[in-house]
Amino acid sequence: MSTLITGIGRLVTNDPARDRGPLGELTDAAVLIDGEQVAWVGDAHAAPPADEAVDLDGAAVIPGFVDSHSHPVFAGERSEEFAARMAGQRYAAGGIMSTVTATRAASDDRLRATVSRIRAEMLDEGTTTFEAKTGYGLDVATEARLARIAAEFTDEVTFIGAHVVGPEWRDDPDGYVDLVRGDMLAACRPHVRWIDVFCEEGAFNVDQSLAVLEAGRRAGLGLRLHAAQLGPTSIIGDAVALGAASIDHCTFLSDADVDAMAGSQTVATLLPAAEFSTRQPYPSARRLLDAGATVAIATDCNPGSGFSNSMPFVIAIGVRDMHFTVEQAVWAATAGGANALQRTDVGHLGVGARADLTILDAPSYRHLAYRPGVQLVERVYSGGELIVDNRPCD
Ligand code: NIG
Ligand code: FE
Repeated sequence: MSTLITGIGRLVTNDPARDRGPLGELTDAAVLIDGEQVAWVGDAHAAPPADEAVDLDGAAVIPGFVDSHSHPVFAGERSEEFAARMAGQRYAAGGIMSTVTATRAASDDRLRATVSRIRAEMLDEGTTTFEAKTGYGLDVATEARLARIAAEFTDEVTFIGAHVVGPEWRDDPDGYVDLVRGDMLAACRPHVRWIDVFCEEGAFNVDQSLAVLEAGRRAGLGLRLHAAQLGPTSIIGDAVALGAASIDHCTFLSDADVDAMAGSQTVATLLPAAEFSTRQPYPSARRLLDAGATVAIATDCNPGSGFSNSMPFVIAIGVRDMHFTVEQAVWAATAGGANALQRTDVGHLGVGARADLTILDAPSYRHLAYRPGVQLVERVYSGGELIVDNRPCD
């Protein structure tokens, strides 16, 4: 079955071969979808025949968003903690523990319902690929349970047993790190592609974090890292040298940290919704981009530091407060996320890409930042299938 999406006013391809600006933009374009993939892209007037045609009447189309950082497998909520922060309290890693208690007590079906709802909300705002972390179990059985449930929803599952020290190990953090590197990693390994660590005051120090990443690498997992969210750190150079796919948060970076990332394949993933909801300073996207680093933006959707799963929201903040241009922010939310997940099949609309298309009720992708807080996602195709249609039914 082939479908020709035609009448696209402005099409973001992110296809460097097109040489039309950073987003490989085409006007008056069409995309031919064959099965799950993009089979042809070009001028609408030159489009090949297809089994069916869908005319968008000038709407803008972008690749589906790639949200490369989220924590959607949890129970409970922490709106009280959020309200206290807005009244002046500081964000600290310790709040994670209340979510751990609720998550351990929740049934598999309860957790599934939460991930399913978060995924539906993400799709509704144009996200077609998302990464999902464990990290609210902190014992072997619960971490494995969270990994197994996350894998029912996405191929991009990350084991983060080293989120904070498990409550049973409060007096023996190194013993907990050994558990994470040993039995917990082994139990989660069948369900996950990535390993991650929260390297921060109140969570894990640099040596502990590197030990966890090295164990993950030995187990054949790709490496991700939470770092420099709440203060400076000395881990960035070592994480880059270990081949981390992405270092996330990146607020408190030294010049050497920026240079290390810029001279590497490691992506800097910025998470503005966390800064928004913790009243922390925003990292500068401009500084990283000017140095030549590859930058992604993602939601970090979690019940503590920021409970938004909206990529348009993080694009708007990124442009307003982190000095991305609109083009750079849209690239970071699509191709940047794909780079952070080392995926070549998503984040762009070149021939052979997965047919993940986000159709906007707007003439340009610029409206994503220009009209913050407005639902502009009109339709979403995932793997060639129309799975969201927000058009009014009259
Ligand atoms: O990315 N930083 C560590 N993890 C999350 C917060 C988790 C929580 O507070 O529950 C984050 O911000
Ligand atoms: Fe996070």
